[in-house]
Amino acid sequence: MVVYSPRTPAGWPTAPTVIRLVPLSLEHLDGVMTWVNDPEVTFYFARLGEPITREEEAAFLERLIASKNDLIFSVFDGEEYLGQVGISQIYWPARNGRMAVMLARHAWGRGVARAAAQLLLHEAFETHDLHKIWIILRSDNAKGLHLWTKVGFRCEGILRDEYFSVGRFHDMVRLAMLRSDWAAAIE
Ligand SMILES: CC(C)(COP(=O)(O)OP(=O)(O)OC[C@H]1O[C@@H](n2cnc3c(N)ncnc32)[C@H](O)[C@@H]1OP(=O)(O)O)[C@@H](O)C(=O)NCCC(=O)NCCS
Repeated sequence: MVVYSPRTPAGWPTAPTVIRLVPLSLEHLDGVMTWVNDPEVTFYFARLGEPITREEEAAFLERLIASKNDLIFSVFDGEEYLGQVGISQIYWPARNGRMAVMLARHAWGRGVARAAAQLLLHEAFETHDLHKIWIILRSDNAKGLHLWTKVGFRCEGILRDEYFSVGRFHDMVRLAMLRSDWAAAIE
């Protein structure tokens, strides 16, 4: 379990709530099912519109839990389930991986995403010695671009027409943070 780290980079706001990251477990399936078919939460995802059954999601979680290339955590405020964060597609030779944050709708707007990202980056860089974390967002995801830029991610480029969702192509923006960016921020 990881709890909110006091090593917040200078100038970053203090998290409004004490959250904790718990390694993904099948016990979190009820929580995951609260958002996985919520169109507001999945709006920017490539698989929008196809309902996911409890059995499908359980099998997906089992694969994630067993994977050596995914570090997935559930986010809790006390006993309240808030969502998922993680680093996926880890490529160990270059020590890089893809960050993802998905919160249940009731957890939005409380500063949880930023606090959870801070904890996750600490895990990624300091516990697992990763070198680079990247994130990919739809170019019209203004909230995500604002949030991750503020956390310290930098734009690496635009992937033109990379996603196809609800009948049209979408440009994607790739952002990334190096361990050295993170280390400089917490000094
Ligand atoms: C994206 C997501 C994780 C953000 O979670 P959150 O806890 O609401 O985010 P926070 O409260 O920590 O921060 C949101 C920031 O975006 C800003 N924001 C909110 N809506 C915005 C918008 N439409 N345009 C620009 N900025 C916006 C907020 O003001 C806040 O910034 P501030 O701290 O400078 O005021 C959550 O909305 C979510 O799970 N969305 C669905 C899943 C998803 O799309 N995830 C991947 C893409 S990021």
